[in-house]
Amino acid sequence: MSYRKAFIASNALMLAAFVWAFAKDFNAEWKPYQKQYYQMAADEMEKQAAAEKDEKKAAELKAEARKMRRTPLEIKQIIANDLGRFDRCVTCHVGMDEYTNTTLKNSFTEHPYKAHPKVDTALIKAHPFSKFGCTSCHSGQGLATQVDAAHGWVKHWEKPMLKGATIQGSCVKCHDNFETLKGAEIAAEGKKLFNKHGCQGCHAINGVGGVVSVELGDIADKPFERIAGYNFKKIRIDGKELPNEHHNNHWNLQNWIRAHLVNDPAAVTPNDPFAHYNAEPIPPSGMPDFREELSAEGAEAITTYLSGLTKEEIIPYRYHVTAAKAREPQLTGAANGKRVYEKYGCQGCHGLDAKQGRRRFNAAGEGQKEYDEKL
Ligand code: HEC
Ligand code: HEC
Ligand code: HEC
Ligand code: HEC
Ligand code: HEC
Repeated sequence: MSYRKAFIASNALMLAAFVWAFAKDFNAEWKPYQKQYYQMAADEMEKQAAAEKDEKKAAELKAEARKMRRTPLEIKQIIANDLGRFDRCVTCHVGMDEYTNTTLKNSFTEHPYKAHPKVDTALIKAHPFSKFGCTSCHSGQGLATQVDAAHGWVKHWEKPMLKGATIQGSCVKCHDNFETLKGAEIAAEGKKLFNKHGCQGCHAINGVGGVVSVELGDIADKPFERIAGYNFKKIRIDGKELPNEHHNNHWNLQNWIRAHLVNDPAAVTPNDPFAHYNAEPIPPSGMPDFREELSAEGAEAITTYLSGLTKEEIIPYRYHVTAAKAREPQLTGAANGKRVYEKYGCQGCHGLDAKQGRRRFNAAGEGQKEYDEKL
């Protein structure tokens, strides 16, 4: 083939690529949502206009509705510079865009058209979207304009969107006062349970606590690649395997944390006790089985608390709410002994109220029998 033909062919290819890119952009996933929002908002205004007795006002509303229908579609973003966030969530969640919907309220019932919950409370008043964006509380992928990508339900996005109770994890990273903060009750309960059950006996948080296992002060930053798919396959939540679908990806960090509390950790992290695959035996997880002590809600609360422990996100000083350290009760004698026992997490290994020891793979005793036999 002559150079000339190659040149013409490559031009044709370029043109095709250009047309393809144009078509792809034209059919972008966010467009129908935004368009639908404007139609719904306009319908609403027309309804109001029909009910309006004052003719002048009715005409105004109608004109506004017409304008709304003709609003050009565009990518919208909140630039929260201080927190280093560029969140395009409002491209689809238009009811939460302060420019389009100045009251931040509407009567729609479906996402992404619905208004944000609790706009009248401190939750939104103290954190205006224009300064905090969305991902500072919700995580997810701020720049993305496709549903699954934005919600972080795609491979290799390490911070999937927080929803339900786990959103409260985000309060922990900015609010040292989260233990008494309105709206962070579940995270506060999580911290209480963490200490009550003696997790700190084995896991330090910011250097405070035992060194038997990993420090959890930055557990929210744990990269997925450090958790093997093999381990995820062993997790059972409500007796079921975790689906590994692209959409609403369940193989995520929250479920990895939760898995340690609603499974026997030795089943999730069985390792290689018989040295089938390694030169030396690697015992199963030494973490106790907490299923008898912790309810599903308890596990959720601890998961929520731990999912806010990050060192990766740098929160500027003025976005950080400090709190005085809680004073420790002044006790004496045995009562003080109990306080010390609980504070340092002795119960992590010796059980609540020192009543029952916990499984250890190099120990022998009644509670150990079942495992000894299995092994
Ligand atoms: C391309 C459009 C689009 C973008 C961009 C988008 N969303 Fe959504 N969002 C949706 C749709 C559609 C739904 C409802 C259907 C669903 O849950 O998948 C939804 C639902 C939600 C829900 C409720 C989920 C549930 O299961 O209850 C939350 C929370 C949410 N979005 C937050 C965000 C955040 C935070 C961002 C930005 C990081 C974002 N969304 C960006 C379209 C979008
Ligand atoms: C200060 C933290 C914070 C910020 C900032 C924030 N949210 Fe939320 N969001 C929450 C909390 C907390 C809830 C749950 C409220 C409730 O119902 O108790 C929530 C609920 C939601 C829901 C409803 C979820 C459901 O289950 O129905 C959506 C959708 C949502 N947020 C999207 C957004 C978007 C988009 C932004 C940015 C414009 C944003 N949020 C900014 C904290 C925040
Ligand atoms: C990026 C940091 C950040 C995140 C995330 C965050 N907050 Fe805040 N919050 C602040 C700052 C800073 C203030 C103080 C605002 C002021 O003084 O005007 C505040 C104020 C508040 C207030 C009002 C003042 C008070 O102490 O009563 C409440 C309530 C509150 N936050 C609850 C929450 C809840 C609930 C969450 C989690 C869903 C959350 N915040 C997430 C930074 C954050
Ligand atoms: C007797 C010591 C011990 C106690 C007490 C203990 N753990 Fe663990 N934990 C471990 C060991 C060992 C591992 C590592 C093996 C594994 O993943 O199971 C671990 C792993 C974890 C992990 C996964 C960490 C990661 O980086 O993947 C989490 C999360 C966790 N523990 C939470 C808790 C919570 C919450 C409690 C209290 C309810 C608790 N642990 C109590 C020993 C302990
Ligand atoms: C990481 C698990 C773990 C934690 C946390 C832990 N212990 Fe122990 N403890 C053990 C083990 C294992 C033994 C048995 C050691 C041995 O026999 O050599 C033991 C033995 C003891 C004994 C001796 C019991 C006997 O019958 O001889 C006492 C007393 C004790 N621990 C007190 C404490 C106190 C107090 C704390 C908290 C400050 C604590 N332990 C925290 C694992 C732990």
